[in-house]
Order: sequence, then C-alpha cells, then structure tokens
Amino acid sequence: MSQTILLIHGPNLNMLGKREPEIYGATTLDEINAAVIARAAEAGLQVHCFQSNHEGALVDFVQAEGMHAAGVIINPGALTHYGLSLRDALAMLRAPIIEVHLSNVYRREAFRHTSVVAPVATGQIAGLGWRGYLLALEWFIAQQ
Ligand code: DQA
Repeated sequence: MSQTILLIHGPNLNMLGKREPEIYGATTLDEINAAVIARAAEAGLQVHCFQSNHEGALVDFVQAEGMHAAGVIINPGALTHYGLSLRDALAMLRAPIIEVHLSNVYRREAFRHTSVVAPVATGQIAGLGWRGYLLALEWFIAQQ
C-alpha cells in the first residue's frame, strides 16, 4: 500500500478564491488539493485531504488518520494562533508535520506572529501562496 500524506485545512480555507484574494490569492482549495494530489501521485504517494471550520472535527480527523500517515501538511488557518486542542492532537503523531501559510503571517497583524502549532511541527512555510503546499510535499518526496 502506498504511503499517505494528510493535507489538512482549517477554518475559512474552504473560501479560498473568494476570500481576500489580495492576501490569499485566487486559487481555490479544490485546485490546491488537485495540484498536491497530482504531484504526489507522480511520486507514488497518496494524499488524504480534509477541511473543516471546526476545531473538534480537525482533532477527530487527526486522531483517526494521523497515526498511520507518513506525514502531515497543515494550514490550521486562525487556529494556528490559539488552537491548543488541535496542537495537542498533532503532538501525538510520530510523522513529520509541515505547517503551511499562504500569506507571510510575520508581516501581518501581531496576533498572527504566534503559532501554537509551530513547536510540534518539523517545519513551516509561510508567504509563498499555494505553491507552499507543493514545496511542503517536495520535502516529503525527498525523504522517501
Ligand atoms: C493563514 C494565516 C492565518 O493567520 C489566517 O487566520 C488564515 C490563513 C494563511 O494561510 O496565511 O486563515 O493560515
């Protein structure tokens, strides 16, 4: 069975394409998922995508799928800054976690400068738009 990468999207990311495109770009979530799935397939990896606006649903998904995943790529949305139960769910995993942000959170409002997820992540990509997800995937591919 091929290895699976979880691609997890937090609150409001279902609105990509319509949501503040000057900050988050015009690419939709479906387009991002499709691009990651296509590149992963070339490398023999499966991708399981999940988006929720609810922290508990994200925790449930991480608990159910995280233990047997080869890796996690996650944009926690605003939960990045305060989502402690999501952070604790991610902390249980052995697989590497890459935190992705479309925007450069460090040049935005001060509340976006803190990530409660970063201390349990292997690395972080911020400010490179939708290509950040593909760059995170390339790291996993290079690990194989
Ligand atoms: C975001 C940055 C967060 O601060 C924000 O709440 C988001 C998106 C990003 O991708 O740039 O929802 O994670």
